[in-house]
Amino acid sequence: MIQDEQIEFGGSAAAIRHHYDVGNDFYSAWLDPSMTYSSAMWDGLSKDAPLEEAQQRKLDYHAQSVGAGEGMRILDVGCGWGGMMRNLRRTHGVAECVGLTLSEEQLAYIRQLGDPGIGAVLSNWHDYRPDRPFDAIISVGAFEHFAHPQQSVEERRGVYREFFQACRDWMAGKGRLSLQTIAYGRMSPEDANPFIANEIFPAAELPTLEDIVVASKGLFRIERLRDDGLDYARTCEMWSNRLRGAVRGGVVDPAIHPVEKYSRYLRMSAAGFRMRKIGLLRIAFATE
Ligand SMILES: C[S@@+](CC[C@H](N)C(=O)[O-])C[C@H]1O[C@@H](n2cnc3c(N)ncnc32)[C@H](O)[C@@H]1O
Repeated sequence: MIQDEQIEFGGSAAAIRHHYDVGNDFYSAWLDPSMTYSSAMWDGLSKDAPLEEAQQRKLDYHAQSVGAGEGMRILDVGCGWGGMMRNLRRTHGVAECVGLTLSEEQLAYIRQLGDPGIGAVLSNWHDYRPDRPFDAIISVGAFEHFAHPQQSVEERRGVYREFFQACRDWMAGKGRLSLQTIAYGRMSPEDANPFIANEIFPAAELPTLEDIVVASKGLFRIERLRDDGLDYARTCEMWSNRLRGAVRGGVVDPAIHPVEKYSRYLRMSAAGFRMRKIGLLRIAFATE
C-alpha cells in the first residue's frame, strides 16, 4: 500500500501514479490497441463483438453525446493514453483536443503521437485553467479518483460539485459534458473490498448516483443516463483473458510485472459488476 503524504483535492497524484505508471508496455499487452482503459460498450453490436470494436463504439458514443464535430475544441478530463482524443480527431473532425492526466507515462505516450491538434497537460482538474473556453467536455473513468474514502458524504459531494462547476466555467457556461464512471450499486462504501481499496486504487472513492444528481443540480441538466455494468464485467473478463494470454505468449513477465495482483483485481471487478454491487454510469449532461 502506498503512503500518501498529503490528501490532494480531487484525487491524489501519488495514488494515480501508483496505478498508471506501472508501465505503458504492461498496459499495452492486455488493453486493446487504442489503449482504452475503461469499459467498452456492446449496445448496438453483436454479443460476440471483439473488445476493439466495443471500445470504438464507446469512444463514438461519448463523441456523439457531446455532438462532436468539425472545428470543435474538446477537453478530455482524465485522458489516459489519448484514445478518445485520437478518435475525436480522426473520426469526428474535431479541430483541437486537450487532455488532462496525472500520469507522466501517459503524458509521454500522448506527446510522442505527434498530433499538433492533441495537447496533453499534466494537471489535476482542480488546478487547471484553460486560456480559452471549450465547446464540450468528456470524462471517462476519472471521476472514480476525484474523492477520498476519508471524506464525508457532504465533502465528497462538495468535490463533485466543484468539478461540475469547473466544467461549466471551462465551457463559458454553455455546452455538453459526457461522463462515464463506476458507481456504487447494491454495495455500500463500508463493504468495499480492502484489496481493491488498498492495493489497486488507494485513496479513491466511488460516487453513488445520488451524489452525482445532487452535485450537478442547477449546473447541468441530465439528458440521458445509462447503467452499463454488464459491459464493464465483460470488459474486465476480456482484459483478464488477454493478460493471461500475454503471460503465456511471453509478452508479460510475472517476475517484472504485477500479473497476479491485476488478474485478481480484474476477476473481482468483473464479479462485482455481474452481481450489480457496482455499476457503470454513462451520463450525458447539458447546460441548456
Ligand atoms: C482509468 S483511466 C481512464 C483513461 C481514459 N479516459 C480511458 O478511458 O482510457 C483514468 C485517468 O484519469 C486521470 N485522472 C485521475 N484523477 C485525475 C485528476 N484529479 N485530474 C486529472 N486527471 C485525473 C488519470 O491520470 C488517468 O489518465
